[in-house]
Amino acid sequence: MANNLSGKKVAVLGAGKMGGILLQALLRNGLLAPELTTATVAHEDRAKALSAKLGIPVGINNLQAAKDADVILIGVKPQVVEEVVAELRGHISPRQLIISVAASVPNSLIEKTLDAPVPVIRAMPNTPCLLCCGMTALAKGKYADASHVETATTMFDVVGRTVVVDEKHMDAVTGLSASGPAYIYIIIESLAEAGVKVGLPRDIATLLAAQTTMGAARVVLETGDHPALLKDAVTTPAGCTVDGIMELEEGKLRVTLIKAVVKAAQRAKELAFAGH
Ligand SMILES: NC(=O)c1ccc[n+]([C@@H]2O[C@H](COP(=O)([O-])OP(=O)(O)OC[C@H]3O[C@@H](n4cnc5c(N)ncnc54)[C@H](OP(=O)(O)O)[C@@H]3O)[C@@H](O)[C@H]2O)c1
Repeated sequence: MANNLSGKKVAVLGAGKMGGILLQALLRNGLLAPELTTATVAHEDRAKALSAKLGIPVGINNLQAAKDADVILIGVKPQVVEEVVAELRGHISPRQLIISVAASVPNSLIEKTLDAPVPVIRAMPNTPCLLCCGMTALAKGKYADASHVETATTMFDVVGRTVVVDEKHMDAVTGLSASGPAYIYIIIESLAEAGVKVGLPRDIATLLAAQTTMGAARVVLETGDHPALLKDAVTTPAGCTVDGIMELEEGKLRVTLIKAVVKAAQRAKELAFAGH
C-alpha cells in the first residue's frame, strides 16, 4: 500500500450508500487497511451486518470511531452533519483531517461546529465510484493545505477521477456530476427502448445503448477533442445520423439537459446548510 494514506487510520461516519461505496472500493483496492479502518451507522443491526460484510469494526459511536483517526470521512445525510460533528467538538485536533461528502454542507459549517482550526475538505463524489469510474470534485476549507488536498485526491483517485475546485462551484458540481448518473441512466433507458421499438431484443438493445454511451464518453476523455467535432465525424452527409440529430434538436435535447443541470444546481444551493 504505497500511498500517502499508508499507515493512516480512517473512520467513516455514516457508512450508508455513498460512505459504503467508498469504503468498499477503498478496501478492495488496498488503499485502506482493514485493521486501521472503522465505520459508524445509526442502527446496531446495520452496524453488525456491515461489519460482517466489510471485515472492519462498525459501531454506532461516532466519537469513539473518530477520536484516534487520521482521516475522518463524513457520509451522513446533510441534515445530520452538524449533529455528528458536534459530537466530535473538543476531541478533534488539527493533525486530523475531515472529509465530508455531504451535498450542500459548506466547509464553514463543520469548521464552526468544531470550533478549532481543523482541516476540512468538502468532496462531491458520484455513485459510479462503486466501479472505480466515479467523478469527484474537492474543495478545501480554510484550515486545509495542499497536503490535505493531496490525501483526499489520493483517496478519490482510487475510485475514479478527481478535480479540485473553489467551494463556490460545489453546487454546480452537484447538479452536473453527482446528479448526472441519473440523467445518463434515463438516456440509456430511452436508447434501449428505442432499440426495442426498431425491433431489437431488450437485452441487446440495453447493451448497445450502455456500451455506446461508455465508448463515446471514453473517446471524449481520451482524445480531448471537442464533442461537436467528434459528433461531426459520425455524421455522414445525407446519411442516417443527421436525421437522428434533427429529431434530437426538434425535441430540444440540449436545452432540456442544460435546464436539468441548472435546476439541480439551484436546488443544491437552496438546500445549503448555512454556517452559523
Ligand atoms: N447518493 C449519492 O449519489 C451521493 C453523491 C454524493 C454525495 N452524497 C452524500 O452522501 C451522504 C449520504 O447519502 P447516502 O445516499 O449515502 O445516504 P444513506 O444511504 O442514508 O446513508 C446515511 C448513513 O448515515 C448513517 N447515519 C445516520 N445518522 C447517523 C449518525 N448520527 N451517526 C452515524 N451514522 C449515521 C445511516 O445509518 P443507518 O444505515 O443505520 O440508517 C446511513 O448508513 C449525503 O450527505 C449525500 O449528500 C450522496
